[in-house]
Amino acid sequence: MFKEICSNHKAYKNLYNGTWIESSNNLIEIKSPIDGTILGRVQAMEKEDVNKAIKAAKESQIAWKNTPLNQRASILHKASELLKEKAEELSILLQFEIGKNKSSSLSEIKRTSDFIKFTADEGKHIKGETLGGENFPGFSKNKLSFVTRVPLGVVVCISPFNYPINLAASKIAPALVTGNSVVFKPATKGAISGLYLAQIFNKAGVPAGVLNTITGKSSEIGDFLVTHKDINFINFTGSTKTGEHIAKIAGMVPMLMELGGKDPAIVLKDADLKKAAEHIVKGAFNYSGQRCTAIKRVLVIDSIADKLIEKILPLAEKLSVGSPLEDAFITPLIDEKSSDFVESLIEDAVKKGATLLTKNKQSKNLITPVILDRVTSDMQIAWEEPFGPVLPIIRVKDIEEAIKISNASKYGLQASVFTKDINTAFYLSDKLDVGTVQINNEPERGPDHFPFTGVKASGMGTQGIKYSIDAMTRRKTIVFNLDEKTP
Ligand code: G3H
Repeated sequence: MFKEICSNHKAYKNLYNGTWIESSNNLIEIKSPIDGTILGRVQAMEKEDVNKAIKAAKESQIAWKNTPLNQRASILHKASELLKEKAEELSILLQFEIGKNKSSSLSEIKRTSDFIKFTADEGKHIKGETLGGENFPGFSKNKLSFVTRVPLGVVVCISPFNYPINLAASKIAPALVTGNSVVFKPATKGAISGLYLAQIFNKAGVPAGVLNTITGKSSEIGDFLVTHKDINFINFTGSTKTGEHIAKIAGMVPMLMELGGKDPAIVLKDADLKKAAEHIVKGAFNYSGQRCTAIKRVLVIDSIADKLIEKILPLAEKLSVGSPLEDAFITPLIDEKSSDFVESLIEDAVKKGATLLTKNKQSKNLITPVILDRVTSDMQIAWEEPFGPVLPIIRVKDIEEAIKISNASKYGLQASVFTKDINTAFYLSDKLDVGTVQINNEPERGPDHFPFTGVKASGMGTQGIKYSIDAMTRRKTIVFNLDEKTP
């Protein structure tokens, strides 16, 4: 599978107008978070290369949008199948490239294969509508509006390191099925996996120019890409800082963005504490906390906090720590800069009086799960997104204080509420300023046809299969003005 995209063993090429090309003499090393081994090099593309990719995408989109929808969907079905066939091979790449353990890597790939298939099927149900003028005062049925859905043009898909397959395909597939062409820029960490995915789409029969890949330094080509006059949509997942920057410079180009989060797990007096503890540990420490939807703070009513902690601690201590190749639960973070940041948050909290309930062992970028109790609002960990295996516990006196602290965050992705009382669950859901409230479960984006919305600094617009399809098409209206016929 790597043959075409990989030349002289370890320099990966980019898909441009249907062929894999080397565009530059400059290469960027991709190192494994496991031990720093160089896995390969990707092209550091320059502005002119980006320009060419966008031009190819723009030109090819005309024929692609005129390709019958059922044929576009068939290509996606094929891509879904190919991805499933390559799951084992690709999961090894994910383990090495982003340090995701084997079971989570395989599950990301399977989920993505299902995502592409579901998108192809959903795409086939895109519908227009007709509206009669007579519904509005002063107009008759001789005025008839015929509304169709048309693609936007060139869609820029920028994916993050933590889901290089799923969060790339969840942008590319809806764009393609609706007749858009794509310029895909994977995050540099995870770029080899992203290129592998592009090859799957290419092999499935996406025509030349309809999908093009870009690799390179965002500092050099990022602004050029998102401000290019020939792009029509940006779908970005990544940090809030970068998302805000893109939103500032991109002008009137519509966007979908999934950014950071500080998802709280709110645990109330009547909660099933055993169940809550299980969800909290899974939600906080899955993929070592490197998920935008990870539980990043627990807000627990003080009177039951000790009981909850008693249940959380043994579960956290039992988590295996080590290599993704051995399917450890906690694996090395993506790089040492990230683990140093996590450590700095832990140090700041402990210095300001938080209680460290677990060991805090760091070996380079591998950190054992850390739980901090009695975290207060003057500590950075109360507000910052660590993207690592650390869970702060904030004790609150009542529900109102939990709502207040929850909503004081600049983020608003998801929130979990643990309670047995349906009325309280609804009360809290109404008050929490987030895109999704999970009752008695950890936050999670899936199933992927559910809407996924980030409010405040957590994003813009709604992702999810049907919603992404909707965002990547616009309504085009033809109004028929019929002659008055008298009998
Ligand atoms: O990291 C951000 C992802 O969208 C989270 O997705 O909830 O499926 O882990 P997930």
